[in-house]
Amino acid sequence: MSIDRYGVMGYPVSHSRSPVIHRLFALQTSQDMQYELLQVTPEKLEIAVRQFQRTGGKGLNVTVPHKSEITRLVDHLSERASTAGAVNTLTFKEDEILGDNTDGFGLMRDLVANLGLTLEGSNILVLGAGGATRGIIGPLLDMQPASVRIANRTLGKAQALADHFSRSGPVTACRFNVVPVSDQYDLIINATSAGLHGESPPYPSAAVSESTVCYDLSYGLNATPFSAWAIEHGAAQAVMGWGMLVEQAAESFRIWRGIRPNTAEVLKHMKITA
Ligand code: ATR
Repeated sequence: MSIDRYGVMGYPVSHSRSPVIHRLFALQTSQDMQYELLQVTPEKLEIAVRQFQRTGGKGLNVTVPHKSEITRLVDHLSERASTAGAVNTLTFKEDEILGDNTDGFGLMRDLVANLGLTLEGSNILVLGAGGATRGIIGPLLDMQPASVRIANRTLGKAQALADHFSRSGPVTACRFNVVPVSDQYDLIINATSAGLHGESPPYPSAAVSESTVCYDLSYGLNATPFSAWAIEHGAAQAVMGWGMLVEQAAESFRIWRGIRPNTAEVLKHMKITA
């Protein structure tokens, strides 16, 4: 019997920590599997996925920039992937491709289980209105917050997302630099890609108080620009997205192998060796 093959497809993908995380999970749970890093351009995506499946691959993680495009190749889309409009986990079953999205789940696990936050009744501000935001609004509203406000540089994109999710809960939109100053936020999530481009937009300082937790979906060895800004403005905590990264991986692993790995020790390892 050949070893079960998994991998992550992205472009670029060399920076991905997923192979390390999944190898640690496999070691911890005694699973005989391998996990590869697969750099695939958007033009080659379909060919690469079909070839991976044909040659016995069991599952794939899909990352930037393919998460939305890949939904076209999926035969069965989970409800959470459909809500997010994006897929990060493919499972190959006989001739079928199942698509799921574990990003929102991963963030909720980190916020609630790891950081101990109570989201029910809280006021949440989400910065950015791209694909990352779309993936987390549904799971956030499921936690029954008092309000979710989406702030974006381009108001129309935030408004479109707020309209899309308005049936699921209290979600509103505003322009990035005019977040109402009267609002007190328990949690501010940075879902913009600004930091990735080395940009530091004028984050809404008036929205931060000493009881605000600031969470950056991005992560790095050093503080991200958003984390540094949060500390500078007196936030209660500034957290980078290492926990979300490990938790979304654990959920993919559970889907594939039927076992939930222990994330705490892997998260500690990732932060030390980042
Ligand atoms: P992702 O899938 O990572 O969300 P995306 O769909 O390209 O990527 O969305 C990027 C988000 O970051 C958008 O909300 C974008 O704002 P616009 O909709 O106005 O483009 C936001 N963003 C990127 N760079 C930014 C910057 N320098 N200042 C403010 N917002 C920025």
